[in-house]
Amino acid sequence: MAIYIDDVSRTFGEYLFIPGLTTKHCTPAGVSLKTPLVKYKAADNEASALELNIPFVSAIMQSVSGPELAIELARNGGLSFVFASQSIDTQAEMVRKVKKFKAGFVVSDSNLKPDNTLNDVIDLVNKTGHSTIGITHDGSPNGKLLGLITSRDYRPEKDDPNTKVEEFMTPFKTLITGELGITLTDANQIIWDNKLNTLPIIDANNNLAYFVFRKDYDNHRENPNELSGKDKTLLVGAGINTRDYKERVPALVEAGADVLCIDSSDGYSEWQKETLLWVKKNYADIPTGAGNVVDKEGFDFLANAGADFVKVGIGGGSICITREQKGIGRGQATSLIDVAKARDEYLKTTGYYIPVCSDGGLVHDYHMVLALAMGADFLMMGRYFARFDESPTKKLRIGNNYVKEYWGEGSNRAQNWQRYDTGGAESLKFEEGVDSYVPYAGKLKDNLDITLSKIKATMCSCGAVTIDELQRKAKITLVSSTSIVEGGAHDVILKDQG
Ligand code: IMP
Repeated sequence: MAIYIDDVSRTFGEYLFIPGLTTKHCTPAGVSLKTPLVKYKAADNEASALELNIPFVSAIMQSVSGPELAIELARNGGLSFVFASQSIDTQAEMVRKVKKFKAGFVVSDSNLKPDNTLNDVIDLVNKTGHSTIGITHDGSPNGKLLGLITSRDYRPEKDDPNTKVEEFMTPFKTLITGELGITLTDANQIIWDNKLNTLPIIDANNNLAYFVFRKDYDNHRENPNELSGKDKTLLVGAGINTRDYKERVPALVEAGADVLCIDSSDGYSEWQKETLLWVKKNYADIPTGAGNVVDKEGFDFLANAGADFVKVGIGGGSICITREQKGIGRGQATSLIDVAKARDEYLKTTGYYIPVCSDGGLVHDYHMVLALAMGADFLMMGRYFARFDESPTKKLRIGNNYVKEYWGEGSNRAQNWQRYDTGGAESLKFEEGVDSYVPYAGKLKDNLDITLSKIKATMCSCGAVTIDELQRKAKITLVSSTSIVEGGAHDVILKDQG
């Protein structure tokens, strides 16, 4: 006879917090959202070798975690796992792009050669939308710098479109430049002293390395949460699979990935164990997470195989149809509570704390606090991040609304059969995800600021200023479906719909 689990499988929308005492020191400004990312020996009072400044990571998905989102999320304290469902080379290149990023130092995306024409300049400005053009010997972003063109150097309506760039560019000899290695503060000082709009940064051979723009000054001053390593580069993660890890892992490590995560819809498998063992043996220094699991057995299996964090969740993702297709899954809240208990038992018996990540199904901001209170150390989200400018997908207009595309890794579009690997022949026999739109929401930072404010306010209502305190103090209650209705505006005519 099958084993029956007595507990009902529940999700976040079925719970609410009951306030705890909010003391005077408990204010949103005093809340810390720092959280461990990888396994550490808590019994010896060690700290996690990698910590997040906010408990958010972005999903290992084509429609979410490209380099642009990875940079912006790390600049705001979280971390992206660059998607694995692409060639090893392109994934490594994305990781490299994040590692190369230096706040305020921009690799020029608009470049021409001296023998290009004004016509070429106008075409390029229309294409990129950027008015500063680096003139290099070979027209590449890092070629020898020969001059600079800005919109002040030509009049499109009056000048001959065939005029050569070298005739109207500001030539190198009259440019003020900064040397590679200069700090952002010093670069901004030169900009200020010389009333410049752009400072080209060059290496010892006069090759163009970056531009520093005056307009970016304010933007790059304030990022107290930035997640960077000892060498000041932004931290970035990368997804791997259980098929080509022997080739993929070396390339990702070489590109500078700080942490890896095995990306699979069902992580309770011998393939995950083999992959973890191989990575631990060959790359002992690179922390590697595994998953996804939904119960104690799955957690213990991956913990014993060496996972540095364990990801929880099957079937709760917004684009996920795994439960419909295979009948596999468990309510996300119940899964998390069960796994977090297993994590705490593992800590008691071994002395090691293995962070748990709640992956998928978070809809409202308060769901995030519930997940943290229920024992998650950090949260993986796809839909949430897919809505922002920085996600790699197209922004489209549908009717009167802007949307962004968002598709599951188990959809035909992503062709990520490795994530749904059941052994044997390499192909995706049926879909476990959909191709969809999400409402466009603007810039990541603007949205994140609001979400974090709400999280901190909820934590203060629970009387907690850290995630650890929240996990110890939160009082959580199940709610009936009728009281869920009571929670929204009800029995009034809303003005904007009236
Ligand atoms: P969301 O934040 O609710 O959109 O869920 C994102 C999570 O859904 C990811 O981190 C994955 O764990 C999971 N996921 C991604 N693609 C698929 C899919 O095609 N089918 C099922 N689950 C998926």
